[in-house]
Amino acid sequence: MTRHSDQGPPRRGLFITFEGGEGSGKSTQVEGLRDRLRAQGHVVVATREPGGSIGAEAVRHVLLSGAAEALGPEAEAVLLSAARADHIASVIAPALARGEIVLSDRFHDSTRVYQGQDPKADQTFLGNLERATLGGLYPDLTIILDIPAVEGLARAAKRRGRRAADRFEKEAVSRHEARRRAFLEIAQAEPERCVVVDARQPADAVAAEIAALVEDRLDAARMDRVGDAFAADTAPLVEPR
Ligand SMILES: Nc1ncnc2c1ncn2[C@@H]1O[C@H](COP(=O)(O)OP(=O)(O)O)[C@@H](O)[C@H]1O
Ligand SMILES: [Mg+2]
Repeated sequence: MTRHSDQGPPRRGLFITFEGGEGSGKSTQVEGLRDRLRAQGHVVVATREPGGSIGAEAVRHVLLSGAAEALGPEAEAVLLSAARADHIASVIAPALARGEIVLSDRFHDSTRVYQGQDPKADQTFLGNLERATLGGLYPDLTIILDIPAVEGLARAAKRRGRRAADRFEKEAVSRHEARRRAFLEIAQAEPERCVVVDARQPADAVAAEIAALVEDRLDAARMDRVGDAFAADTAPLVEPR
């Protein structure tokens, strides 16, 4: 496994993550935003967790089957982090270095919520693990799709049809509702990075809200770059002769 590093080339792209409970519309919105941005001429990488790279997809199967559940939240988080490190190094960091837009269906907030919500979880350990895994590569923008757990689970069940529920979909509504609150707490604690979107709205209304948010971030990023270019161009002029 290759590792990304904080000393790598400067990051130029935009990294957006989508978070929220089962059936909140993450996959629908990632796909919609990807298509919209591509139509505007942007280069977009749409990916997902757990998974998103060859090494990480192998771990995804272990996690969603429930095989790692008995090991406890820390071991589950370690597995997720192994997958995330590979995903970052082989997919996310290279795309950002090329100046592309990366959309990830779930990322580190899901580990905070799903493993961190366990009352037995060691929060210090999970915090250290998160920092070590991300190595500074935090999302620029996180869209939290908020929906009452029962409504999201009903959508997920409809989508699933006759297939069996996975390890997380099987859990009690109260646990899903606790996770919903945990996502909202993250948004409150990190208002610069996180935006909560009401996911009960029709999909196109959710998409329009997200598109406006992303436009703002792209404008801000362009302004930064214009500023940098301007500074670079004018720097020699103010140097003493
Ligand atoms: N805003 C929405 N209103 C109604 N149904 C939706 C909406 N967004 C998504 N869906 C449907 O709900 C199901 C779950 O959506 P999905 O995008 O797979 O959610 P997630 O990836 O968050 O689990 C899918 O069948 C999808 O078509
Ligand atoms: Mg999904």
